[in-house]
Amino acid sequence: MPLIKDLLANNRRWSETRAGDDPDFFPRLSRQQDPDFLWIGCADSRVPANDIVGMDPGELFVHRNVANLVVPSDLNCLAVVQYAVEVLNVKHIIVCGHYGCGGVRAALQDRQFGLIDNWLRPIRQLVEVHQAELAELPDEDSQVDRLCELNVLAQARSVASTTIVQNAWHREQPLAVHAWIYGLADGLIRDLGQSLRSIDDLPQSERLRSPD
Ligand code: CO
Repeated sequence: MPLIKDLLANNRRWSETRAGDDPDFFPRLSRQQDPDFLWIGCADSRVPANDIVGMDPGELFVHRNVANLVVPSDLNCLAVVQYAVEVLNVKHIIVCGHYGCGGVRAALQDRQFGLIDNWLRPIRQLVEVHQAELAELPDEDSQVDRLCELNVLAQARSVASTTIVQNAWHREQPLAVHAWIYGLADGLIRDLGQSLRSIDDLPQSERLRSPD
């Protein structure tokens, strides 16, 4: 197990290597960031956003929480989305879940875990909506994995339904919202095929008129 001082030693080596490869790397990044992508992912330590999509510092704006939820009353997430869309002008928002997510599994179980259950309520609601489909699956692991997919699809629709994303679309700002899922077992990302690129891609009930 690494010791805390190992992290600092690693950091010094990393900084030296980066600066050695590209002397302008840190000076350039310290002047500005210009990422094209916002990543909304799970806090799980096995899903390190930049690493799995080969992005350098400065290329990915990142928000992570337990089970990659986009809850419209979560100021933390909304502030990240607003900054990414309105200031950084990202072109893509990627909601990336992962199979075997512990948060999703907890929401599927008939047990109380405490405070986290409040956070996971949107997933319990998904379980109720998709009960019939989930009940057809042979075991808990397959139910968890399917629920992980359903959750990513729902959270991508949730971020696309925010006033922030809808108003970007009203301004004709190019912005696409993607639903991806990462496999812990093979390190591969699958695109779930739900790219949202305009208000027409939202259900009628979620569409908001332009505020002007
Ligand atoms: Co997770």
